[in-house]
Amino acid sequence: EIVAQFAPTLVAWQRQHGRHELPWQQTRDPYRVWLSEIMLQQTQVTTVLGYYQRFLERFPTVRELALAELDEVLALWAGLGYYSRARNLHRCAQAVLAEHGGEFPRSAEQLQQLPGIGRSTAAAVASFCFDERVAILDGNVKRVLSRVLAFDGDLASAAQEKLLWRHADALLPARAADMPAYTQGLMDLGASLCASKTPQCLLCPLSELCAGRAQGEPQRYPIKSRK
Ligand code: ADE
Repeated sequence: EIVAQFAPTLVAWQRQHGRHELPWQQTRDPYRVWLSEIMLQQTQVTTVLGYYQRFLERFPTVRELALAELDEVLALWAGLGYYSRARNLHRCAQAVLAEHGGEFPRSAEQLQQLPGIGRSTAAAVASFCFDERVAILDGNVKRVLSRVLAFDGDLASAAQEKLLWRHADALLPARAADMPAYTQGLMDLGASLCASKTPQCLLCPLSELCAGRAQGEPQRYPIKSRK
């Protein structure tokens, strides 16, 4: 039964084979985890590393970021691209200071109210920092889940995407303490073995559970009509 096996299998794999040494994995500080998630949204890990370190040297806390001039934030962001991320980052820091006394809220629901924090980013921060049982669903995770489930819905449809969110909720680990490894495992699998064009199913811990693989064509998923 996939719902019972999925999370424990992924968590065990992440603990043995996933990444553990990234700087944002060495902390439960929501400011640092949030910053890493925003930087990683459209940028590779190797590029982010240097920016992340320089950014935190200049802005060690959300308060210092909130009180900085936008121009200085943009200067430290220069080269990462997608500058609306940096503008929202600054606005978010100001909201955390003004509306939450400089402490990030501790639930995904509240995190998602902040500027630039979508549902999946809110869930990543809440699961990594606060062990909240809440699902992420970014592009890589949509690929992993749609393959494992052989999910036939068209993800260009909002209703079908909503249905995949429901499946993501159903697959969460029973134990909240497993949430950081689970969330990281989904990210690591989506960034490595469960590749778009050439998935490495022979190495995948989920291959025996994977309905897409059982059908012989995991690359068929996710289904996305362009509209
Ligand atoms: N991409 C997005 N979040 C990440 C994380 N926590 N670790 C590695 N890559 C990521």
